[in-house]
Amino acid sequence: MNSDISFKKFKAQIEIESPGRINLIGEHTDYNNGFVMPTAIDKKIFIKLSANNSQSLCRVYSETYDSSFEFNLETIAKSKNSWENYIIGVVNEIQKSGKKLSGFDCVLKSNLPIGAGISSSAALECGLASGLNELFELQLSKIDIIKLAQRAEHNFVGSNCGIMDQFASVMSKKDHLILLDCKSLDTEYIPADFKNCKILLLNTGVSHSLADSEYNTRRQECEEGVRIIAETQPGVKSLRDVDEPMLEDFKNKLPGKIYDRCNYVIGENKRVLKAAEAIKNANLKEFGNLMYASHDGLQHKYEVSCPELNFLVNISRDKDFVHGARMMGGGFGGCTINIIEAEKTDDFIRETDKAYFKEFGIHPDPIIVEAGAGTIIKKN
Ligand code: GLA
Repeated sequence: MNSDISFKKFKAQIEIESPGRINLIGEHTDYNNGFVMPTAIDKKIFIKLSANNSQSLCRVYSETYDSSFEFNLETIAKSKNSWENYIIGVVNEIQKSGKKLSGFDCVLKSNLPIGAGISSSAALECGLASGLNELFELQLSKIDIIKLAQRAEHNFVGSNCGIMDQFASVMSKKDHLILLDCKSLDTEYIPADFKNCKILLLNTGVSHSLADSEYNTRRQECEEGVRIIAETQPGVKSLRDVDEPMLEDFKNKLPGKIYDRCNYVIGENKRVLKAAEAIKNANLKEFGNLMYASHDGLQHKYEVSCPELNFLVNISRDKDFVHGARMMGGGFGGCTINIIEAEKTDDFIRETDKAYFKEFGIHPDPIIVEAGAGTIIKKN
């Protein structure tokens, strides 16, 4: 497909709006069978799809990057360009599951910042999988799509992610948070009622190269903790099955770092459940304190924060109009998430911008978001 094609003029059989996500609390708990509290946001990737009557030629054009590529369904291979792998990876997983595709054209554009930790990759993967499911009548359920997109990330992109991002992108409901149990996939939709407050993301503008390798290392460290505990507690299959007293019993058997990682995860699961109660009781102060405690654990025990994230969280700590703030997502860059009184937001953004620029020479990008709906599909 050449780049004369425009998103607007493309004649689509299927149109998809696929959102990014935020996570209020519950970080690095999803792959430990724990609890998370994400929701989709009103920033999205827009995807248009049509069958092109060829057997196996697929053509993709991104208006946002002004970049296009082609691939063949019969000769799937990894690309050197990472964004292309999100697409090819999804197609690969669909074919591996035994479903039949034929040639298609795809155009996309996005208003989701890339590398900001708001899951543009999950949005692209889930959006494409949902669109192909409709276009070729593949009969995939929403859960099939979520798991397939996660496998694409594992197998083609190389990040051993949990299920939170894909789940939030597909399953969210407007104006609600999801309390998700990543073990059973049970969900509770909680009204995202932040009273007179806004949800403000501050994008550090950095994405440290440690992100992928350290992410996978953290996952292994948690698994190592589980392995050691399960030697004498065979019922323990994940950190979800370990509570604080049990962890204390194993303190001497666990290497210090492994103990810290497990201790953080067990504490974070408890915080998510407390935060759910706090928001239901309209107790934003308590909710915010839990966010700060989450950040402290991520910084000191799980060690996935970075100076830029810590700076943005610290600057909010003495402001009583910021109820809570913490790093969000995998860490080592990306955004902080802040619950801030609406009328103070502009002043806070100005003050933060000045201080952060002085320290790091970068202007943090402020992004105000609302809890939005999951994937929207339109057939023409
Ligand atoms: C990334 C992963 C998620 C989750 C978060 C940390 O966003 O994709 O699965 O593990 O990091 O909570």
